[in-house]
Amino acid sequence: MSALVIEGGTPLRGRITAQGCKNSALAILAAAALFEDKVYLTNVPNIGDVRTMLSILRSLGYKINWGTGLTIKAGSTIKNHDLTQTGAGSIRGSLLFLGALLGRTGKVVLPMPGGCNIGTRPIDLHLKGLSMMGAEIKIQSGNIIGEAPSGLKGAYIYLDFPSVGATENLMIAASLASGDTTIENAAQDQQVVELGKFLMSSGVKIRGLGTKVIHIKGKKSLDSVTFRIAGDSIEAGTYLIAGAATRGVVTVDGVDVTFLRPLLFKLQEAGMEITVTNGHEISVDAYDRPKGITIKTMPFPGFPTDLQPMMSSFLTLAEGRSVIVETVYDGRMGHVNELRKMGAQIDVEGNTAIIDGVQKLSGAPVVASNLRAGASLVVAGLSAEGRTIVYGLEHVMRGYSALEEKLRALGAKVKLVSDEEAAQIA
Ligand code: EPZ
Repeated sequence: MSALVIEGGTPLRGRITAQGCKNSALAILAAAALFEDKVYLTNVPNIGDVRTMLSILRSLGYKINWGTGLTIKAGSTIKNHDLTQTGAGSIRGSLLFLGALLGRTGKVVLPMPGGCNIGTRPIDLHLKGLSMMGAEIKIQSGNIIGEAPSGLKGAYIYLDFPSVGATENLMIAASLASGDTTIENAAQDQQVVELGKFLMSSGVKIRGLGTKVIHIKGKKSLDSVTFRIAGDSIEAGTYLIAGAATRGVVTVDGVDVTFLRPLLFKLQEAGMEITVTNGHEISVDAYDRPKGITIKTMPFPGFPTDLQPMMSSFLTLAEGRSVIVETVYDGRMGHVNELRKMGAQIDVEGNTAIIDGVQKLSGAPVVASNLRAGASLVVAGLSAEGRTIVYGLEHVMRGYSALEEKLRALGAKVKLVSDEEAAQIA
């Protein structure tokens, strides 16, 4: 178990390059199980969740070689379709092997997914959509057992909610289904668009990518593909928020501004100066104390729920009141109690956080309960006066590569230590 020791109060200054997008990489790695031929990926982030997905692909008989790029070489046939003895139960992204293995082999046994404890996170839309494509799925003893004895068929599917994962699962399943699939009320997030681009580069015909209606024409097999994972908008947004929270000047390059626009508008509304160069280089200059604002998380193009915890940390220092409404998850306020330990004034009613800004946060020992809650505590520690120790940093390392190096490159005084070392420092 690890912790990050932060000597707060230093304005972050400098430039970093965004990692390959975590959530795009997870979807694309699941889709790799559709292929009988080689897949070559570049800019894959070296993070915990990616390593878990690679171990699952190995258990399916794939040969993995991760040099400058990541080569995934299909075995002749998929030897194993039972993933219950792999790490699949520890992350959410493994759920996408449902569509991939039903499409490729017509059978799959998968543990119920894990991932961040941010609410109930049902999977009904995944199961309903796949059933409409001809799959027979049941939940038994904590596992999802799926079969498609006569293969998957294209279908017209309406999603009650624009679920990112359900959209991705259905896109993956539709790629090897016979006939056409339409997904209405589809998700439009970065990882959905990147997955679609990856599938299109293997010959799958897709129309409407990035809109609410996506059409996919299935094919018998997918062509070998080389694909570069695009920059991670949530990681980039995290560093921009950290720059704003510490009154610094931070530039992030290597990321498409499209998926950061909701964040940039909100940072500007709070009084930050934003500069975008060539659509892939974004700077935040926090020359003044932010003003309180209202944020409501929504499926993209609304404000991304994944940036909500880090924005909450930033707004604890704003002048005046901020209101944060979390509409996507029913349990994504786990960071609030820890921020209160640092002097934040936050009241939570249901999924609404009411933040009255304070002049300063004070460093404290705090515990990360999930990936983005942990990132929000790192942001708070960087802006606080004095020392913060963020325990449970393994949660954060699941989604942020080279965290310590990147923060140091921006001038932060941080040190990654074991829990035992941290206890001696505290
Ligand atoms: C993906 O999760 C991301 N994870 C999440 O990022 C992100 O928060 C989320 O999309 C929304 O943007 C990955 O891509 C691996 P959802 P996912 O299905 O696919 C409802 C992070 O921090 N829902 O859009 O699980 C339910 O209310 C992680 O990087 C159903 O009702 O998101 C849920 O709360 C956290 N039935 C909401 O949609 C379903 O079958 C959002 O879920 C599925 C979802």
